[in-house]
Amino acid sequence: MSKPRTFHVKSFGCQMNVYDGQRMAELMKAEGLAPAADAGEADLVILNTCHIRERAAEKVYSEIGRLRREDGSRPLIAVAGCVAQAEGAEIPRRAPSVDVVVGPQAYHHLPAMVAKVAAGRGRAVNTEMPILSKFDALPQRRAGSPSAFLTVQEGCDKFCTYCVVPYTRGAEVSRPWDAVLDEARALADGGAREVTLLGQNVNAWTGEDERGRLQGLAGLIRAIAALPGIARIRYTTSHPNDMGDGLIAAHAEVPELMPYLHLPVQSGSDRVLRAMNRSHTAESYLRIVERVRAARPDIALSGDFIVGFPGETEAEFGETLGLIRAVNYAGAYSFKYSPRPGTPAAAMEDQIPQAMMDERLRRLQALLTEQSTAFNAASVGRRTAVLLERNGRRPGQRIGKSPWLQSVHVDTDAPLGSLIEVDLLSAGPNSLAGALGQRRAA
Ligand code: SAH
Ligand code: SF4
Ligand code: F3S
Repeated sequence: MSKPRTFHVKSFGCQMNVYDGQRMAELMKAEGLAPAADAGEADLVILNTCHIRERAAEKVYSEIGRLRREDGSRPLIAVAGCVAQAEGAEIPRRAPSVDVVVGPQAYHHLPAMVAKVAAGRGRAVNTEMPILSKFDALPQRRAGSPSAFLTVQEGCDKFCTYCVVPYTRGAEVSRPWDAVLDEARALADGGAREVTLLGQNVNAWTGEDERGRLQGLAGLIRAIAALPGIARIRYTTSHPNDMGDGLIAAHAEVPELMPYLHLPVQSGSDRVLRAMNRSHTAESYLRIVERVRAARPDIALSGDFIVGFPGETEAEFGETLGLIRAVNYAGAYSFKYSPRPGTPAAAMEDQIPQAMMDERLRRLQALLTEQSTAFNAASVGRRTAVLLERNGRRPGQRIGKSPWLQSVHVDTDAPLGSLIEVDLLSAGPNSLAGALGQRRAA
C-alpha cells in the first residue's frame, strides 16, 4: 500500500468523539495529508466509533463493508474510538480489511501506525491508556468555527451497571488548568466565540489554578469567561452527584455561562436507579433541578433516559414519566436499554422484551416531544442573542444558536461568529425562525 495523501474522518457517538475526530484531522494535516470531503475519495479513512449501544457498535462493520470501491480497491482503514478500545485486535479478525486499530487514549500514535502499514509492515493495533499523554503530543488547536468543543475531563469512575464508558475511556482524569486555558485561548484567537467544555462527567473536573488553589469546574468556567473573545460557555455531560454549590452559583453569576444544563437521570424509579448503580434518587435529582432553577430561573434542562432496564416494571416506567412531568424538559435523549458485553446489567435476569421497550420508548418520547415543542413555542415573541454558526440552505440565510441551545434560522448578512439580536417569530419542533432585531456591538 502506498503512502496516503488524503484522509477522511467519520465520527460516531458523543461530542467527545467529535472532538477527538477534529484532533485526529489536525494531526493528519500536520503530517501533510489533505482532507477529503468524502470517504469514497480518501486514501485513508478513519472510522471514529462508538460502543455505547449494540446498534452503534455494529455500525462500524457495515461502514467497513461500504468502503470497498467499484474497482475492488479500498482505502487504508483505521478504526478509532470506543469500539477500537473494546474490541481491539478482534476487529481485524472479523473485518480483515482493517489496517489500524487505535483506542481513544492512543490516537496520537496514528501517524506512526499509518506509516508502518503504508510501508507494508502489516497491521497496527494500539489500545493503551496512558494518562493524558495524547494531549501533549497533539498539534496546537485552531478554531474551525464560532463554536468549539474542548475536552477538559475524560473517563468515568461511576460504573453504572449498563455502561461501557468506564471500560472504553478509562478512569476519570481532569486535564490541567493551564492546558485547558491555553487551548481555550488558542480557540478564541482562531475566532471561536463559544466553547463547550466536554467530559463524560465534566462537572467532576478538578485542578489547581496558576496560584496552586484547588478549583472545580466553576473556577475553570470563570477563568475561561475572562478570556478576550469568549462570549459563551457551555459544558456537557454532567452527573447529578457532581452538581456542586459552586457550579450552581456560577449559573447565577457568570453571564457568559449559558442557561442550559444537560443532566442525565436515566430513570424516575429509585429501585431501578439503585440497580443501575446511579447513586442518586429521583428525589435528590429533583432537588438539584430546583436549586439550579432558583439560581437561573430561565435555564433549559435536558436529560438522558433509558427505558427497559432489566426488571423495569410498568409502574417503575410510570415513575420515569412522572419525573419527566415534574421537571419539564426543553430537550432530551432517550434510548432502549442495550445489553453491553462485560457490564453487570447484561447478566441480570428479567431482560425486557424488545416490543415492550419499543412501546415504552414511544410513550416516553411522545411526552418529551410535547415538552420540547412547548418550550420552543414559549420562546416565540422573545428578542434574544443568537450566535451565528453556519450558513443556511437559502442564500442570505444563517443558522445560529439561542442561549437555550435552540437552532435559530435568520436572514442576515452579518458574518458567521456574530452575536446578533433576533426576534423569535415562529417555532417548529427542532428549530425557530427569527428576524433581525437591532445589531449588538460584538
Ligand atoms: N457520562 C454520561 C453519559 C454517557 S453515555 C452520563 O452519565 O450522563 C450517554 C447516554 O447513553 C447515557 O446517559 C445513557 O442514557 C445512554 N446509555 C449508556 N449505556 C447504555 C446502554 N447500555 N443502553 C442504552 N442506553 C445507554
Ligand atoms: Fe456511563 Fe454512568 Fe459513567 Fe455516565 S456516569 S459514563 S452513564 S458509567
Ligand atoms: Fe460512544 Fe465512547 Fe462516546 S462509547 S458515547 S463514543 S465515550
